[in-house]
Amino acid sequence: MSVSRRVIGSEQVEKASRGGRRYIEVPPGGIVTVQARETAERLDVALRDGPLDRPQTPETDGAAALYRVLYRRSSKWMAPKPPAGRNPLRFRRIAIIGAGGVGGNIAHLAAARDAAGEIVIVDVVPGLAESIALDLNHSSGATRSKCAVSGSADPSASADADVVVVTAGRARSPGMSRADLLAVNRRTIRALGEKIRAASPGAVVIVVSNPLDEMTAEMLWATEFPRERVMGMAGTLDSARFRAELAHAARVGIDEVEAMVIGSHGGEMTPLVSLARIRGMPLDRFLDGEQISGCVERTISAGAKVVELRRTASASIAPAHAALELLDHMRGARVGPVPATVHLRGEFGIEGVPLGVPCLLGPKGLAEVAELTIDASERAKLKSASEAVRARIGS
Ligand code: 2OP
Repeated sequence: MSVSRRVIGSEQVEKASRGGRRYIEVPPGGIVTVQARETAERLDVALRDGPLDRPQTPETDGAAALYRVLYRRSSKWMAPKPPAGRNPLRFRRIAIIGAGGVGGNIAHLAAARDAAGEIVIVDVVPGLAESIALDLNHSSGATRSKCAVSGSADPSASADADVVVVTAGRARSPGMSRADLLAVNRRTIRALGEKIRAASPGAVVIVVSNPLDEMTAEMLWATEFPRERVMGMAGTLDSARFRAELAHAARVGIDEVEAMVIGSHGGEMTPLVSLARIRGMPLDRFLDGEQISGCVERTISAGAKVVELRRTASASIAPAHAALELLDHMRGARVGPVPATVHLRGEFGIEGVPLGVPCLLGPKGLAEVAELTIDASERAKLKSASEAVRARIGS
């Protein structure tokens, strides 16, 4: 009896590479042509001898998978599907203050996703917010988004918003740390916070301006809102970067990686190696210590690397996607814990300082801090980050 052996040619390697795959499984007895090997080498696609170990994890989205890690469920556990017929909330009005790269991209993503009935963009640069609004309204002819976008140089245009996303403030130049922006952006955030308090007294405020932890504290003080309604966006960005680094280093698909970064949005951030999983397994099954440290270091310096390359601006696309992740959690389009910077009240043993921690969110902001079990060294890092942030905010 003849046994058919699967032949892997260069076309399959090219197809895998076009589809963003970093490896091809070679079944037992499979034949790989010489051209396929050359193409794999050229396109950086690994050829792995199968059968590969495949735990049944990835039907979940990142947040649901993380739930499983946090609560130490079996690797066979599947996230419950959201109740049938449940539609994500559509905000009535989102205001975005600051129409630079991050603000503009947030407006773009939120409009394309139809996340609100109305989006108002505000920027002090004459014509900037208006031009982006016009551009986005033109896009709706293609995207069919029903969201109406307007732009203004007058902050009072942002009044009566459900959510105010603040990206205003100076961005870093090469060689600057986020903390170097503290003095200048503090004044901006304080002035904006007072305006938001008067104009949108029921809003949830998402701070994106740097230095993130300190600006979140400043916004909380200026608005005098409860802590549930003032949060900072950083952990979703740092976690996205960490997952991308891990997937790249382990040559696996991004949907096979679960990882979260907590702590401050700076040198003291804490990528949670102890809880990170690749295909549901601990990192050391795929990466050695040096590779893991490399991923951690590149995650911490990712923002600075973009600034160094761009010279005149910081990252804008990944931060915008990360801000949308928070908005999506608030409106129920995503479920499960997500890292957000909130003022801690004893959680993780930290009191009275904003830090990135896993949170459950709802339309009115923070619903609950999800206090996961992290290892002793990660806890110690979180504690020292809290002390560094506390010293910088001066309380
Ligand atoms: C970043 O990490 C701008 O803080 C932002 O890229």
